[in-house]
This record gives sequence, structure tokens and C-alpha cells, in this order.
Amino acid sequence: MNTAQFIPETLSEIVADVVFTWKTPSNIALVKYWGKSNPQIPKNASISFSLKNCHTITTIEFSKKEKTTAVDFELYFEGKQKQEFRPKIIEFFERVEEYCPYIFEYKMIINSKNSFPHSSGIASSASGLSAIAMCLMSLEHELNPSLTKEFIYKKASFLARLGSGSASRSIEGPLVVWGKHPAISGSSDLFGIQFPYKVHPVFKNYQDAILLVDKGEKQVSSTLGHHLMHEHPYAENRFQQANENVSRMSEILQNGDLKEFVNLVESEALTLHAMMLASTPYFVLMKPNTLEIINRIWAYRKEHDSALCFTLDAGANVHVLYPESEKESVNQFIENQLSRYCQKNHYICDNVGYGAIQL
Ligand code: PMV
Repeated sequence: MNTAQFIPETLSEIVADVVFTWKTPSNIALVKYWGKSNPQIPKNASISFSLKNCHTITTIEFSKKEKTTAVDFELYFEGKQKQEFRPKIIEFFERVEEYCPYIFEYKMIINSKNSFPHSSGIASSASGLSAIAMCLMSLEHELNPSLTKEFIYKKASFLARLGSGSASRSIEGPLVVWGKHPAISGSSDLFGIQFPYKVHPVFKNYQDAILLVDKGEKQVSSTLGHHLMHEHPYAENRFQQANENVSRMSEILQNGDLKEFVNLVESEALTLHAMMLASTPYFVLMKPNTLEIINRIWAYRKEHDSALCFTLDAGANVHVLYPESEKESVNQFIENQLSRYCQKNHYICDNVGYGAIQL
């Protein structure tokens, strides 16, 4: 695998003090990534919608200083210093230092905030780490102005992946594939790419309402969940199935077959959780209200001949996906019938977005 392409050779410019701000989205996988090998190499390809409203905004102030052997940074989350987030960021810098050696020559003040409530059960690592990666790439661009936009986005995804696999899918949009796959030209295990084929108009502005069933800390981290796939009795079949599902999803995204889309998306969500149920040790991340919502979605779909469907992340929250043409009726259904299963009736209406934006 060609990781050498991401080690900078020439950094021609001298840059003193600079500030960059990036807004990067959260994403929701349609075909899931669950299982990896070192360093953050996925066992199967995955594909996701980038979101619009759920995002992180991160500013990094870089001040030039004497080169040191340790990374020097301060970290603020929503205006307050956050010691508990430091270990994850230190680990991230350790993983990227080979590719961004210039970080040792700057003091970094990182200010970050999320559009979605903290501890809402919405994973913030994807948007959080992709935003830091974009800020690093803005600095690298100043140091080496010959970098192309294409390379900057590719390397940002590469860096973000080293922090959290799914973060590699939070640089571009509306659909991103991560993981080498024969049916997706240009795909790579090292970084996410924009879905390279023409997407059927029905998926334009697709809606995602995130029902916040459980805002608490996850009982099992995704790091541990990925790890449990190493000894998992169904792992190999699952990786093969996921890759087949990426081929199927690629077809669906091009031909607009919503019936197939619904079947595949829901099957992927339930299979992800089935892997958790069948791990050693086993664990359950769904809550009773997750199942209540799923059953109501199935009943609604049958009754209204609707294309709404659900997907799940590694948690109890439910993402409800539906075409823009059903927005009004489904939003009413969510408000009247599903919001009661959410903590404090809380849900977030989102739709597909187009990736990182510099502010
Ligand atoms: O990026 P990680 O290591 O947090 O893993 C995320 C895995 C899932 O969200 C469960 C699935 C996916 O593909 O996003």
C-alpha cells in the first residue's frame, strides 16, 4: 500500500502564525464497517451518506516555535478545556506524526464544538477528527502551496482514518466509499473517496432523522467491538457479505430502486448488531425503544407504501432514512408516533450533505 505518497518531501514555505477553521460532517453508513486490522485497515468496504446538520466546527491556531519531540497543544471543547478528550487526540497525533512532521514545530490551540448535543449518542469522532485533519492539511498547503485540492482531500481522509476509521468518510459527500473494492473504481483501504458513479435523483437531498433513544455513554466502545471481530465465528462471512452489499448498494444508488435500498439498509443495520450479539463476550446496544421504533417503522411502511427505513450505528439511536418527497408525512409520523420513544422526545432532522467546508 502506497503510504509514502503522504510523507511530505518538500515544505518550501516558512509559515509563522496561522489560524484555520473547518466544518466537517458526521456520516451514517449504509453498508457498515465493523472489523479492522492494523493500522486502521478495514476488513471490508463501507459506504455512507455524509450529513449536513450534524457537524463539528474546529479552529486550530498554529504558532511557530522551536522544534520539540512532543506535540504541544491545548484542547478546548465548547470553550472549556477538556482533559478527558486529550488521550484520543494524543493518540491521533502519534499516528499521523510520520505524515505531518511539521506538527512538532507549532504550538496548536484547538477549539472545537459540535452542532449536536454532547453525549447524544451521536458519534463525534468522525466529524471531530476529520475537522482536525482538514486544519492540518490547510497548514500543509501553506507550507507547500503546490499541493492540489484533490491531494489535500485525499490526505485529509487518510489522516482522519488513522484517528477513527469512519472519520475517513467525513471529508467529502454526499456518498463516500472507504475500503478497496473491485466494483468501485479508485477505492482504497487508506482513504475514503466520493462515490464515483452517477447517483439516481431520488437520493438527492435524502433525509435522515436521528431519534435519540439513549443519550448515555456507550457501554461498549467501537474499538472493542472491532476487536471482537478477530475471534468472531461469523467474521469472514460477514466481511464477504459486506463487500457483496457494497456492490449491490452501488447498483441501487445508480438505478434508484428504493425497495432494494430499504431491504439492504435495514439488513446491514441488523447484521451489525447481530455481530455484537454473537461476539465473545456478547453485548446488546439496542434498547427496548429501539425495537419499538423499528416495529412502528415497519407498520408505517406497510400501511403507507412508504420508502422510509431505519439504520443503526453502534448504539441505541435510530436513524430514519426517507426520500425528500416523503418529508412532510414522515416528519409528522416521527413527531406524533416515534418521538415518545426518544429521551426527552429529542430527535434531530438532518439530510445528506456535501462534506467539509472551510469557514
Ligand atoms: O470509526 P469507528 O471505529 O468508530 O467505527 C464505526 C463503526 C460503525 O459506526 C458502527 C459503522 C460505520 O461504518 O460507521
